[in-house]
Amino acid sequence: MTSTNDIRRGFLDYFAGTGHTVVPSAPLVPQNDPTLMFVNAGMVPFKNVFTGLESRPYSTATSSQKCVRAGGKHNDLDNVGYTARHHTFFEMLGNFSFGDYFKEQAITHAWTLLTGEWGIPAEKLTATVYHTDDQAFDLWRKIAGLPEERIIRIATKDNFWAMGADGPCGPCSEIFYDHGDHIPGGPPGSPDEDGDRFVEIWNLVFMQYVQEADEITGDLPRPSIDTGMGLERVAAVMQGVHDNYDTDTFKALIAASGELTHTATTGANQASHRVIADHLRCAGFLVADGVLPANEGRGYVLRRIMRRAMRHAHLLGAKEPLMHRLVPALVAEMGGAYQELVRAQPLIEATLRQEETRFRQTLDKGLKLLDEATEGMKPGETLAGETAFRLYDTFGFPYDLTEDALRAQNLHVDRAGFDAAMAEQKRAARAAWKGSGAKASDELWFDLAEEIGSTEFVGYASDTGEGQVLALVKDGERVDRAGSGEKVDVIVNQTPFYGESGGQVGDAGTLSSDGGLKADISDTSKQLGRLFVHHATVKAGEVKIGDAVRLSIDVDRRARIRANHSATHLLHEALRQRLGSHVAQKGSLVAPDRLRFDVSHPVAMAADEIADAEAAVNAKIRQNGAVTTRLMTPDDAIAMGAMALFGEKYGDEVRVVSMGSDDDGETYSIELCGGTHVSALGDIGLFKVVGEGAVSSGVRRVEALTGEAARAWLTARDEKLREAASALRVTPDEVPARVAVLIEDRRRLERELADARKALAMGGSGGEAAAAAESIAGTNFVGQLFDGFDAKGLRGAVDEAKQRIGSGVAAIVATNDGRASVAVGVTDDLVGRFSAVDLVKAAVAALGGQGGGGRPDMAQGGGPDADKGSAALDAIRAAMDQARG
Ligand code: ALA
Repeated sequence: MTSTNDIRRGFLDYFAGTGHTVVPSAPLVPQNDPTLMFVNAGMVPFKNVFTGLESRPYSTATSSQKCVRAGGKHNDLDNVGYTARHHTFFEMLGNFSFGDYFKEQAITHAWTLLTGEWGIPAEKLTATVYHTDDQAFDLWRKIAGLPEERIIRIATKDNFWAMGADGPCGPCSEIFYDHGDHIPGGPPGSPDEDGDRFVEIWNLVFMQYVQEADEITGDLPRPSIDTGMGLERVAAVMQGVHDNYDTDTFKALIAASGELTHTATTGANQASHRVIADHLRCAGFLVADGVLPANEGRGYVLRRIMRRAMRHAHLLGAKEPLMHRLVPALVAEMGGAYQELVRAQPLIEATLRQEETRFRQTLDKGLKLLDEATEGMKPGETLAGETAFRLYDTFGFPYDLTEDALRAQNLHVDRAGFDAAMAEQKRAARAAWKGSGAKASDELWFDLAEEIGSTEFVGYASDTGEGQVLALVKDGERVDRAGSGEKVDVIVNQTPFYGESGGQVGDAGTLSSDGGLKADISDTSKQLGRLFVHHATVKAGEVKIGDAVRLSIDVDRRARIRANHSATHLLHEALRQRLGSHVAQKGSLVAPDRLRFDVSHPVAMAADEIADAEAAVNAKIRQNGAVTTRLMTPDDAIAMGAMALFGEKYGDEVRVVSMGSDDDGETYSIELCGGTHVSALGDIGLFKVVGEGAVSSGVRRVEALTGEAARAWLTARDEKLREAASALRVTPDEVPARVAVLIEDRRRLERELADARKALAMGGSGGEAAAAAESIAGTNFVGQLFDGFDAKGLRGAVDEAKQRIGSGVAAIVATNDGRASVAVGVTDDLVGRFSAVDLVKAAVAALGGQGGGGRPDMAQGGGPDADKGSAALDAIRAAMDQARG
């Protein structure tokens, strides 16, 4: 059997061998297209190359592109697990020609690979062509020798592929595999074409024309080729199975799911295991590419997918979170081809475990509510939309999860009712929106936004501008005018002042008019994402509604903000390249004096990782490449080929910021961003990371400086180094070595000091004369007191004293840090008469302590009364006296 991994490699090898550049899969979050939620076809990363906006150092390419199709309508997700070929995540194999070869070679390649390299019998294959595409028809006859009845002309959109309403387009030719007459269904174009016998495996698009507003307006100057083959489908063909879920990769994941849940993988459980296997792939790859579960946008799609799988795990009776335990199986199957999975494995596991743990807390309750709500309902009936909304709102059940849960009972959900309940909640949320001030002013912003509409921002292109005053707000109330000394919020129809958003702080500057107005603007905020509010203090004259005012931003401050913002983009890309594509922005602050950037990454960054990223950013700065931006309205963006909308947070226009270039000439950083940027990267000057730390689980924060701030920071560091060098009387270069020597010296001195104290205790050389032995009860007794002596050395010191006196009792009391320790030793010949344990207990009692113990010949203890050392020795003397006889 040819494994899926071998098929992928075989495809890329074939096209590499025929001169195509192998391009690694782009991340699932589109890098060059603000209109898409996820990459959903192999050509997406090349979109701008087809349109001529971007050029690459190659004219033919091949890739195995990760794709997700789950961001659109809710019921996309619904079929996954219940059919043979629906997936949320799949891989698209493709070969591309950017004005290089065209139809003939595309068909030749496809036919050679399928029937030659892979040995798929020609009689199993059928091709379709666009009904007017005689050329393709003839080529299929000539190249493949297909009989006319197996080159089917199709007149529908199925065989005419377009990137969007505007852009390159052309007829396409699809290749179908006949799985055999044991499966119902007819060839494409026949009345039974919806059956499952003939399966499309490869789509060859002949990009030939340009269209505008869905009308062909001319020929493409450079006809191109875009092809897409579903890896899972072709794997099924080559592995002799009909169902994608019976291919090796899926079988392995399903087996792992069966093993961990101790359930059979067929029969009633089959769909659940398939859902789990499919969604595991999708969730794993999304997290690896930086998406984390959230309540909006991409993160919400991920959450829906995760929770659907988790409900199926629950259906299978899993008592503990399951999904994260399947990640090793996913990595084993796919980590070889996609290193990002290996790198992000800890993050994927942690994310799945956290989500499943949280979801399980409400899953049971939600399912109980659902059971109650559906009790007595008959197949075909519809659940109230409000109930579905309550499940969503209270128990975190995405709409499609409720639908999925009711599927087995053949019950439906009232979508319109759900949407209405959602709209009502949004209205309530709007009312409760928290702005910068009190409740009354919140409503004020809503009213204002409705009344005067969005502020137009003109600050990308200019630092100054004229605007008409549309509203003035003072202490949460609308006013008509404000005079000298007053603080007032000013709203104009258009402004060059950037309103704080997307991590970039608002602009400061001045406001003036021919009528004598002079006002300082300390900050600019953005209300409801579209109303720019200038926080002004009137210095002279007055400002009133209807005035034309001149707005000038603080140009130096903005220049520093620009540098920090562009540096943030470079840092983002540098970290992705250094740490892996799981690195995604989780927050940022772009201020005039610094930048702060939070990214998803499971562990602390190593010093060399930070140093490498910093070096990469500085290299781009020195290359001084241009920064380019493209602006479009969301509508235009959709018209360009949007398959799904992204979140509202991007506002009325979407903006794509590109900067720098890689060694191979590809754009270095491309981001959807509303912020302001330098025009050439050299304007950043210098980039220095000054901190790295944890923000929360799986999120790290990098702090950095640019330009003059970075230079000043480095100079301050240098100054500190000079101070240290001067104190050490060496050159700055010699500081580390000198410090190492000093540390070693200090260790040695400490050792010597300890030895000296010990020697002193034992009365040895270097110390004072040994304490003389006295005679108590006819026995030699040596009692000594030492201040500052480490208790650890006591036993050794007493042993040596014992040796010195030959026969007798030795006792040492040592005081250190306000505590006293005592050790008593009895020479072997006297252990019948004196017990070291008894003697030490007497001393310990005198020191205000309790207990003390050891052996008859050596015992130790201590107490808090450090000043009772002499009393302790006396206590030992008295105890010896008593023990006499
Ligand atoms: N772009 C073509 C498709 O997605 C190949 O079908």
